[in-house]
Amino acid sequence: MKIFDLKKELNAFTQEQRKKDCSIGLVPTMGALHTGHISLVKKALSENDLVVVSIFVNPTQFDKKDDLDKYPRTFEKDIELLKQVSDNIVVFAPTVDEIYGENVTSQSYEFDGLDKVMEGEFRTGHFDGVGTIVELFLRTVAPDRAYFGEKDFQQLQIIRKMAEIKNLPFQIIGCPIEREPNGLAMSSRNERLSKETREEAGFIHTTLQTAKADFGTKSAISIVDWVKSEFDQHPLFDLEYFEIADENTLTPALKIQDNQKYRAFIAVYADGVRLIDNLRLN
Ligand code: PAF
Repeated sequence: MKIFDLKKELNAFTQEQRKKDCSIGLVPTMGALHTGHISLVKKALSENDLVVVSIFVNPTQFDKKDDLDKYPRTFEKDIELLKQVSDNIVVFAPTVDEIYGENVTSQSYEFDGLDKVMEGEFRTGHFDGVGTIVELFLRTVAPDRAYFGEKDFQQLQIIRKMAEIKNLPFQIIGCPIEREPNGLAMSSRNERLSKETREEAGFIHTTLQTAKADFGTKSAISIVDWVKSEFDQHPLFDLEYFEIADENTLTPALKIQDNQKYRAFIAVYADGVRLIDNLRLN
């Protein structure tokens, strides 16, 4: 398996592949790969001749140093896992210095307000960091298609907006959330949960499912209040936010419109680990 750590070399390689009429998929990751990532890689392999998987824990999208320090890094294991999936994968694993040099900062983006709510409200600068690194990966690889999980649905919408604003002619593809058997959305952060909390964390998805069942018969405000009270009573989880929002604008749904699509979005702390999830409501 080819592993690149320099932008210039990866870019030369992908250009050469393109000359051979080879289509390219990009799967950006921060490593600690799990079944969720592998499903993105498999989808990318099914739609492209070659797939570039980037593995880079991007410092500028973390607002807390502690969260960045504790982010799991399992490079050798990740490579072994990818080797088992296909030979048509190349890995891009740059150093922070290669990406940022001495200036480890983000660009500023105007995402039409998509970054002002939910994750953007609670994680200052997070989406500027995501935009900066994803734009750099897209420009370096110039893929036909780039794949992102819907677990980070707000991120997916923001990346679509960034591609539109920056006129990047790459297809941005959202892929369904992969879940553990109890419904917990797969995430590299799940590794940091105790066994008991991880088992109990199916509660997050179950609550979203009840919210979905009630959507349409109860008001958005009463569903939000009910979810808050469920978490108030739970000894293991601290709710950071629960929102019912329009899928496109991500603005909170005060009045439900027949022709709009809505999703429920949630962020919860468990064992000091921040977990997010979302579910389409209609
Ligand atoms: O979703 C992630 O893992 C990261 O935000 C991404 C898209 C790889 C950018 O660092």
